[in-house]
Amino acid sequence: MNKLIAGNWKMNGSLAANEALLAALAQGLGQPGCDVAVCVPAPYLAQVQALCAATPSLAALTWGAQDVSAHASGAYTGEISAAMLKDFGCRYAIVGHSERRQYHGETDAQVADKAKAALAAGITPIVCVGETLAEREAGHTEEVVKRQLAAVIHTNGHCISEIVVAYEPVWAIGTGKTATPEQAQAVHAVLRAQIKAATEHFSRVKILYGGSMNAANAASLLVQPDIDGGLIGGAALKAADFLTIIAAARG
Ligand code: 13P
Repeated sequence: MNKLIAGNWKMNGSLAANEALLAALAQGLGQPGCDVAVCVPAPYLAQVQALCAATPSLAALTWGAQDVSAHASGAYTGEISAAMLKDFGCRYAIVGHSERRQYHGETDAQVADKAKAALAAGITPIVCVGETLAEREAGHTEEVVKRQLAAVIHTNGHCISEIVVAYEPVWAIGTGKTATPEQAQAVHAVLRAQIKAATEHFSRVKILYGGSMNAANAASLLVQPDIDGGLIGGAALKAADFLTIIAAARG
């Protein structure tokens, strides 16, 4: 299985900055030897789609959104449906990022519904799970990530073979504190076992690690048996760093 390196630009960028970043990525991407995606702010999906179409050296780059509505259409001011994302060529949509769970009160059930809406439109949801520092210190890491994933499995049944999971310990996001390869691998193994119990096609499901993954630590994380790629925040905004991580995923 190819590894997947996905950038999460979060609420960063501008028309000019995105163009410069993609131009710099185009210099080094080539045949990446792994799957590569950028999840960009929704207003820039059209720009990213157009630049990828116009730039042969970005042929390997796919793109996605950072959230998706659980609803198909209607009176949901400010929301963006999966069908709309599909119109702009999205391959992926992040769902249940801890920043949305924390700041927007998204529940496990809502995250599961968002994953379902994405799947129905042919978009691969990147389902984020992860514990807070308090939960880890209380010894609840496994219980938390299993509960978060169980909701997605419950709502999506056999379709969960089509999702991507991202383990993102909340305490490691944007803090420079990465989980050690051993800490990450231990949680990934738990998630793998849970997926294995839920679908015979478990081997299709990639489990990414996210949380201060960078050019220096990516290789040691990506070599772990159950780490199938990375969901990269800050380091995805720097072309050289993102390309180094992509190279590390080539194996
Ligand atoms: P950082 O890589 O900036 O820690 O962010 C990780 C993340 O939240 C990716 O979704």
